[in-house]
Amino acid sequence: MYTLEIDTAQPYKVHIGTHLLEQVGELTRSACGGNRAVIVTDTNVGPLYALPVRVSLEDAGYTVDVFTFEAGEEHKRADTFLAILEFMATHEFTRSDCVIALGGGVVGDVAGFAAATYMRGCNFVQVPTSLLAMVDSSVGGKTAIDLEAGKNLAGAFWQPKVVIADVGCLATLDPAQFADGCGEVIKHAVIADAELFEELERTPLTLDLLMHDVSRVELLVARNIDIKRAVVVSDEREASARKLLNFGHSIGHAVEACENYRLGHGTCVAIGMVAIARAAVDYDACDASIPGRIERLCRAHGLSTASTCSADDAFAAALHDKKRAGDTIDLVIPRAIGSCSIATTDLATFKTMIEVGLAPERQ
Ligand code: GLY
Repeated sequence: MYTLEIDTAQPYKVHIGTHLLEQVGELTRSACGGNRAVIVTDTNVGPLYALPVRVSLEDAGYTVDVFTFEAGEEHKRADTFLAILEFMATHEFTRSDCVIALGGGVVGDVAGFAAATYMRGCNFVQVPTSLLAMVDSSVGGKTAIDLEAGKNLAGAFWQPKVVIADVGCLATLDPAQFADGCGEVIKHAVIADAELFEELERTPLTLDLLMHDVSRVELLVARNIDIKRAVVVSDEREASARKLLNFGHSIGHAVEACENYRLGHGTCVAIGMVAIARAAVDYDACDASIPGRIERLCRAHGLSTASTCSADDAFAAALHDKKRAGDTIDLVIPRAIGSCSIATTDLATFKTMIEVGLAPERQ
């Protein structure tokens, strides 16, 4: 088991290990206090894991309710968010009570945004059950819902009081969900850890490994959270360095929207990472070997890096990117494996970069 301390303005702990679902009650009690807890989960995860979490919370003295919504990115929307708030109000939750997000990235994002806004903010606990949520979205306090125009366009920074990552939950992931998480692991390796990238090249992560080498999985999750911790602690509200964590996301989010959220987030990040690396080579901003290495590693982890999305459609969708400021956008450019930088780029250049990055003949 690993415990990492996230030293944001309100510090909190991230626990990584096995059999932690049974400890959610006691860990929530010591981090948050309060009398009531609502477990927010979805129709995939609730039937698998809500019961042990509920029992653990009740054993720790909480009165527990469960709010379950339909699984899928298409439900990370205002109606789900409002339904959670109405549910909490109807059940007379107070600010000292707790929202427990039990699930993957979608659950964490929408439950976190509800916690950030209910009575102007109440206690929030992340219990990530997917690889993507464990290595990335459960840590750092970004919460959001999607709007018609794009992904994560309404949200808040709201740090959890504690994150409880039980790697035993990864055993029930399907291959596409597993690959999605690998996309964020590869992203962390490219921005900050060349050694991790080389290790993944030598021995790609597989679902089989998740089942049979729990200690390597715990270490991998801890290593990824440590990369994220360092960035988030230096820039909690994404004024500068935290933008690095968006490597692959400007084009990736655009492809995700163009494809109507049919493709997983990790797949779109993989497409975005390869596309921006290809474009960076054309601008002499990175070595010509880098796009191919990223592409091969993504493919070795079950992530397709080809998109049928047109450059025009992707550019139109990318205009909603939160890193855009007027006529410029901050892009994350891979200078080398393990080292990225932020380049403020005018929109005309960005359009050309998308054309180069997504050109069918380069895919
Ligand atoms: N997933 C990027 C961030 O948390 O900043």
